[in-house]
Amino acid sequence: MILSILVTLIFLGIYNRYFHPLSHIPGPFWSSVTDLFKLYVLLSQDLSTMGIELHKKYGPVVRVAPNMLSFSDPYMIPRIYHKKADKSDFWTPGALGRPPAMIQVKDHQEHAAKRRILAPAISGRNLIQLEHRLDERLSRTMNALDTGFAFTHKSCNLPDWVRWFLYDAFTDMTFGEVLDFTGNEKDVYGMLQAFRGSAWIIGLTTMFPWIMGPLYGSPMLSQYFLPSSRDKDGVGKMMRLRNKFIKNNLLNPTETQDCIFNKFLQSQSMHPVTLSTDDIKAEVLMMMAAAPDTTLALICSVVDNIIRNPQVYQELEKEIEILEVQGLFSCRVVSYADVQCMPYLSACILEASRICPPVPVLLPRRISKGGVRLNGIYVPEGAEVGASPPVINNNELVFGPQTDISRPERWMGDAENISVMKRYLFSWGWGSRKCVARSLSLMETSKFCAQVCKLLPTM
Ligand code: HEM
Repeated sequence: MILSILVTLIFLGIYNRYFHPLSHIPGPFWSSVTDLFKLYVLLSQDLSTMGIELHKKYGPVVRVAPNMLSFSDPYMIPRIYHKKADKSDFWTPGALGRPPAMIQVKDHQEHAAKRRILAPAISGRNLIQLEHRLDERLSRTMNALDTGFAFTHKSCNLPDWVRWFLYDAFTDMTFGEVLDFTGNEKDVYGMLQAFRGSAWIIGLTTMFPWIMGPLYGSPMLSQYFLPSSRDKDGVGKMMRLRNKFIKNNLLNPTETQDCIFNKFLQSQSMHPVTLSTDDIKAEVLMMMAAAPDTTLALICSVVDNIIRNPQVYQELEKEIEILEVQGLFSCRVVSYADVQCMPYLSACILEASRICPPVPVLLPRRISKGGVRLNGIYVPEGAEVGASPPVINNNELVFGPQTDISRPERWMGDAENISVMKRYLFSWGWGSRKCVARSLSLMETSKFCAQVCKLLPTM
């Protein structure tokens, strides 16, 4: 048995290396032989530097797995991530249970239908209606930081506080209920830890969908692999919390009318065939998973830049003073409308998202029938192609010189250049699959960072 597996693997390796339709594309030896190279990438944990280095060494197109190509040319992005592009198995559903959430839907038509129904709840007017919930959480967090640390000059672990704030803000805006991590000053019920503990299985599923997919899908084996709300720990614990929030939310429909979950339900009742109640439950679970750590990474990167660079802080201080003189920063928490009158803060956020993209992985798409020519190379049907945010955001033709240095000023110059940079900034993905919660995340980031700047002189 072991011998036959070994022989198969050797033959597969030889086929991949010398006879596969992508065998002529340059790349590391092991990535051309086996998918297990992805495991090495996953364990190395420095995806950003690795992607940039690979493209420096092998050129604009790199074979990063036997059937997967990475592109570094930003002008290829619209051709790869066009409206009709289907996703590959990368986001195979299972690690977060079933049915698949929107991000995991492969077919572009099915995805578009779901997105049309879900997106309005987290954007535009609905988002502004939720701002008062965010303000309540921000005000409590700032008060705690002010009295507990700034006033007493004690040091604090800011990433923990940001994570607690983001989690409370997200569940408040989604369900109208909080676990109150900020008030308790800890990870209540070990909820965040439970989810982080299962991040490895999500990583493994994205890297090896051909192993994990059949296990999640098998009628006999799925019970051992799919998470369930009966599980003591991991994603199951998160599912229990989601179910409890949903139950309480449904008991108070009037007070939670403005919440994301309720808006999802309202839209769903108008399109019950395209979206089931289970689809919505899957969607909010996916968001609970995506909400804290991505925005946390962005906020920490902005604050880190402010603290390390006095001239960055001075520029922001000037913007805050202008708002204060106009009486716009005098209320309890600065409003999103007012914070948008801080162009330097907005440049700091754009630059942080460019240089430290919170999702640094390659975002693959499956080449459809007939294949396609990309960067002068014919890529056959079935191959996976994509680009990763750190690689695209590092391109000097688009983002100007010294892309490896954080320089918010690059976002303050010529309007035409800035519009090109904004177009190709890849941190939020692209086109019809671009992060659906981008505005929500930017609202949290800009308001939190403005408030921290105001608090800094007292620290
Ligand atoms: C700084 C924060 C964030 C970054 C950088 C980010 C980045 C991304 C990226 C790159 C994608 C595209 C994935 C792909 O093409 O396969 C994406 C999609 C998505 N993100 Fe975010 N995200 C952030 C915050 C959030 C938050 C807070 C939520 C939830 C509340 C969220 C929910 C989603 C969803 C549901 C999708 C799928 C959209 C679709 O398929 O149409 N993201 N995000």
